Amino acid sequence: MLPNGFMIGAASAAYQVEGNNTKSDLWLMEEMPHTTFSERSGDACDHYNRYEEDIALLANAGLNTYRFSLEWGRIEPEEGVFDDAEIEHYRDVIRCCRAHGVEPIVTLHHFSSPIWLIRKGGWDAETTPADFERYTRYVMEHLGGELTYVCTINEANMGLQIARIAERYTQQAKAAAAAMAAAREAAGGDGAVDESQVQMGLNLQKMMENQRLQKAENVEAFGTENPQVFQSARSRHSDEIVCEAHRRARAAIRDLCPQVKVGLTLSLHDLQPQPGGEEYAAEEWADEFTHYLPTIEGDDFLGVQNYTRTLVGAQGDLPVPEGAETTQMGYEFYPEALEHVIRAVAQEFHGNLIVTENGVATDDDTRRVAFIDRALAGVERCVADGIPVKGYCYWSLMDNFEWQKGYSMCFGLIACDRTTQERTPKPSLEHLGSFAR
Ligand code: BGC
Repeated sequence: MLPNGFMIGAASAAYQVEGNNTKSDLWLMEEMPHTTFSERSGDACDHYNRYEEDIALLANAGLNTYRFSLEWGRIEPEEGVFDDAEIEHYRDVIRCCRAHGVEPIVTLHHFSSPIWLIRKGGWDAETTPADFERYTRYVMEHLGGELTYVCTINEANMGLQIARIAERYTQQAKAAAAAMAAAREAAGGDGAVDESQVQMGLNLQKMMENQRLQKAENVEAFGTENPQVFQSARSRHSDEIVCEAHRRARAAIRDLCPQVKVGLTLSLHDLQPQPGGEEYAAEEWADEFTHYLPTIEGDDFLGVQNYTRTLVGAQGDLPVPEGAETTQMGYEFYPEALEHVIRAVAQEFHGNLIVTENGVATDDDTRRVAFIDRALAGVERCVADGIPVKGYCYWSLMDNFEWQKGYSMCFGLIACDRTTQERTPKPSLEHLGSFAR
């Protein structure tokens, strides 16, 4: 059994549910002719206008916590210019939570950034930590008195993870190009080669062409060929910028609102090395977690986010094992990963932990119920062993805009008809609520 007062909630992010975040970088990226987004976010779930209904559904099902984010681009649409009406909107959302007996956990940055920030160099610019601090100060001056928990940055480690994948992808593309060249030579120099025989069926020519065209579109939107948005492959330098942004925001929060508990969140995989994969897994864990320890040392809590396990071989991450159940995201259905990650984190970070995201994309809600049961059983075991886990927020409150994958992924406890915006709670919503005491 989970202890009294344990936070049981659901999470969302402004850009994924509110709709019409026109001041944010991703809005422009969605509109580009050579966008990598499969569809536009548009009105999303219209949560901006319907948050009262959504919070009431959450509360009526027994959940006691709602983690959501503020959209920086709405609050500070131009550099140094703040929109008081938008901050009042978020005050209403917080008060709505409180009126329902729901604890709001507010995230200041969840992936999307103001367009002006990216035009200034984005998450690679030396000026970004100060910009983030100014925004944080404004938010805390207005809303800090109503808050207990603030996450500064969602998945601060995301960019390094993307860099690792991008590096692997580049190596594969190079190997594919070399294989094509060899095949051409064997075919007598300029003979036609079936590109689909090269691994992954890549159309390399088209890919390169697309990249070139995207560059021109980036210049038009952001004034640079290579905009450094939060999800860009991150260098060590930009990683340090993100850490500095967190430290400055934390200091500002402590300065203005010492009663607020502050932390950041990390995307953490349950890395399971297979024989020979120990070294690679250790390096990956260091990138993903250990090297953030000096940055998060003084935090009040760490937000743990996990979705699956990853088997690791000598050359890197391995595919999902043959025959395993997979989710819509293509991940292995493996809810026990959460317990493993919590235990791994607790060996090195001794502060409080809040599971700020954990969930499954599936159109079979019975599998979501099973996922929640198994994940929470793991959390209970951790708590019983004395690990200070204080809450669990399922991702996500409702089916929403899953970034580049658009609306195709069903993570939600509530279905959302995007034509009528009608909400339909799934049985998993009540089920999760039954864990709250
Ligand atoms: C992100 C969410 C996302 C979820 C599911 C997390 O990495 O914080 O924004 O929707 O994973 O993929």
